[in-house]
Amino acid sequence: MHFLGALGVALTASLGTGAVTVPSTPPSSAQSVDKSILSVSLEFFAFPGYTQLEATNNCLANIATLRGAPPAVRIGGTTQDRATYDPSLSSAVNYTVANPGDAPSTLTYGPSFFTLASQLRGDVTVGLNRQLNNQNASLQAAIKAKQTMPNLFALELGNEPEFYASNSPIIPSGQKWSTDLDAASEKAWFQAFSPSVGNIFQGAVYLSWNAAGLLTRIGSDGISFLKSISRHSYPQSACGGASTNLPNLMSHSGIVSYTRQYQSEATSVHAAGLRYFLAETNSATCGGGGISPTFGAALWIIDYVLQGALNGVERLYFHQGTIGNCAYCFWGTSSIFTPYYGVAFVSEFFGTDGVRVAMLDDGTSAIGVYAVYSASNVPVRLLVINSNYFDGTGTRATTSVSLTGLTTSTETTKAKRLTAPNATSRSDQGAAVTIGGSTSFTSTCTRSGTQNLEDVSVSGGAATVSLQASEALIVYL
Ligand SMILES: *[C@@H]1O[C@H](CO)[C@@H](O)[C@H](O)[C@H]1NC(C)=O
Ligand SMILES: *[C@@H]1O[C@H](CO)[C@@H](O)[C@H](O)[C@H]1NC(C)=O
Ligand SMILES: *[C@@H]1O[C@H](CO)[C@@H](O)[C@H](O)[C@H]1NC(C)=O
Repeated sequence: MHFLGALGVALTASLGTGAVTVPSTPPSSAQSVDKSILSVSLEFFAFPGYTQLEATNNCLANIATLRGAPPAVRIGGTTQDRATYDPSLSSAVNYTVANPGDAPSTLTYGPSFFTLASQLRGDVTVGLNRQLNNQNASLQAAIKAKQTMPNLFALELGNEPEFYASNSPIIPSGQKWSTDLDAASEKAWFQAFSPSVGNIFQGAVYLSWNAAGLLTRIGSDGISFLKSISRHSYPQSACGGASTNLPNLMSHSGIVSYTRQYQSEATSVHAAGLRYFLAETNSATCGGGGISPTFGAALWIIDYVLQGALNGVERLYFHQGTIGNCAYCFWGTSSIFTPYYGVAFVSEFFGTDGVRVAMLDDGTSAIGVYAVYSASNVPVRLLVINSNYFDGTGTRATTSVSLTGLTTSTETTKAKRLTAPNATSRSDQGAAVTIGGSTSFTSTCTRSGTQNLEDVSVSGGAATVSLQASEALIVYL
């Protein structure tokens, strides 16, 4: 048995030259998967609006059904640092914008904001304002959140402080904002809030600064105020006219190397006894550069969430921005967007019984192969992803993947396919993006259609599956 196990690992080191062997127990590289690994972040000012959409509840409920636990929600983003709590405001938020697609430059919010947040099913993290240096207003909000929300997981104080303008009120006059000044500021605020709400903070909330650096700067007495560390992550940006690239976004080997950057940070955060999240993430900032609403982005989500888990990221909170003006969103007022198909597919792969995941390929090719293991340490499903880019022109190549070491006792097993006409396809533009041959979701995110399974022949513990370029497949063991 030992010898076979070692041989299995050796064979999985490459793909294309031989079969991928499925270890019968989790290999040492396997990592645990949080029940809420696929979570969402809702832009602060838009949160009350999201609660008015039927799709919000249904899209979150679908994930909960597939995983057996609700996704966590983080309410925050740029507008958390523009918002001021007003305890006498009767509406949840108040602001004016010139165009419905704009985000407000200033806003107020009231106690009913937290009543709405208390109705979410999973853990909820609320991001409060630090940038405006109105500590009393944010403290009153924190106290209200704590009183109102039994589901309150953590509070953030400030969002991406590295981008605070030099004239931000929080920056002491005459001083240059830095990681050191921010850490001292975060710690002072945790200290000021903690007697009223407890040690329930999510620290860092950095995009470009190393989040583990905060822990060194605030020391163990500062760490004691924290529950979790948040890092933000967007693999691409369309800001300032920067160009985006869909083949790069969805590339399996590209995702493997991109996501590895978080591993050492996760290790440091876990060593400090805290939880580590990418608490705001999505594909491309500043309008998505045309790539964010596509089928390729749905495939990216699958591989990225899996690589997150393998690198110690416990949850990835996919950001949902301005309703009706959000290229990477999962849903809107009248459509379910293509990335959500990736969300549903990877959630189905994890299932209600998946607790540990392993990558079985070596991460250097376009083909990813993953196994998910149950609590009794048996592989329950495989996921194969062909990240070769097919844009609709030319011939769509097919790759065969041989799997060995399958312990299924039957001669046939089942598989379910995620596909679309090509990587640029968009369900909101009528393209046939399908799971098991079905379009799967109504405009309010209830399940529709019948998903069909394919037969996969198994002989002597071996099977071969075929995937076209830009497709993914779940094999049920
Ligand atoms: C709502 O905000 C507008 C400015 O955007 C302000 O004129 C109005 O008084 C505010 N309403 C309340 C109830 O605070
Ligand atoms: C703090 O804010 C609350 C609520 O807005 C207000 O009632 C109170 O007067 C403020 N306290 C101070 C010291 O500003
Ligand atoms: C890709 O698929 C979409 C339909 O989803 C189609 O409209 C588009 O023309 C295809 N691209 C090419 C280059 O054929």
